[in-house]
Amino acid sequence: MKEQLLNIKENALKEINKYEKMDEIEKLRVKYLGKKGEITNILKGMGKLSAEERPVIGKVANEVRGEIEKAISDKKEEIKIIEKNEKLKAEVLDVTMPGKKIKIGKKHPITQMMDEVKYIFTGMGFKVAEGPEIETVFNNFDALNAPKNHPSRDMSDTFYIDENLLLRTQTSPVQIRTMKSAKPPIKIIAPGRCFRFDEPDATHSPMFHQIEGLVVDKNVTMAELKGTLDAFVKQLFGENTKTKFRPHNFPFTEPSAEVDVTCFKCKGKGCSVCKGEGWIEILGAGMVHPNVLKNCGIDPEEYSGFAFGMGVDRIAMLKYEIDDIRLLFENDMRFLNQF
Ligand code: DAH
Repeated sequence: MKEQLLNIKENALKEINKYEKMDEIEKLRVKYLGKKGEITNILKGMGKLSAEERPVIGKVANEVRGEIEKAISDKKEEIKIIEKNEKLKAEVLDVTMPGKKIKIGKKHPITQMMDEVKYIFTGMGFKVAEGPEIETVFNNFDALNAPKNHPSRDMSDTFYIDENLLLRTQTSPVQIRTMKSAKPPIKIIAPGRCFRFDEPDATHSPMFHQIEGLVVDKNVTMAELKGTLDAFVKQLFGENTKTKFRPHNFPFTEPSAEVDVTCFKCKGKGCSVCKGEGWIEILGAGMVHPNVLKNCGIDPEEYSGFAFGMGVDRIAMLKYEIDDIRLLFENDMRFLNQF
């Protein structure tokens, strides 16, 4: 019997050594130490032993049970530690690893240009005004002193919706809306989208962008128009930029001018950007026509004003040296990613 017990011990220790999983070890515990286990089985036969043998075998049985119990609990501890380490390893979080890059969008070059112009003018005390892209014929033309027979009103120049509505051809109608809804002093810029019946090519798009400016107050003079635009172009194109006013005609201003700036690329020497001129035309401007003031209920004897309007797409093209306006509206990421 002693022999059997020692055999059981030897087998048990071997087996315990062999396995590495908690449930396997638990099975071994049941196999050797359980109620129907091998040791219990042997001890059942103790009754047959003599009175001298019984305590001796009992002692061996207890020692064997104790050793197996210890081996099992040691093994379980060992497995617990291994499992814990494995879990820690699997869940490891390296906070120094570079994160996944999230691609964030950015502003379209036209929006960037608009923002820049807005920033400069709001810095000079201008407020930003807005008007609808679908405008009345009256606001877009009549109120701006462009009578029925004016060439800009031609069907082939303008997207009419019906007799009285159209896609605005310019941001100038925001002047009318502003003067009708607020009393002078008025000092606004109005950025927005405009539409004309134009075949798309490198320099024309049926949809384009303008920024309008309007100042109305007592004693506003052309000197202030020149000073304002001078300060604007210096901020936008550089401190040494000069302006040149060329006489022109717009129905809603008198006198009217087209305004050129010295080429920011060649500084006036002549290059491909300014087509050898040294000057670049960037906007139209003038003193608000008395008829326009009258049409909005403002007395031209008491008030005067200046206005200007620039093509944002054109300025963006000049500034970023973009040679085809269509690139701005095709949404090709290879193009847009450059800005
Ligand atoms: N609306 C004009 C155009 O689309 C631009 C313009 C010229 C606006 C002179 C003005 C201005 O306010 O005073 O060509």
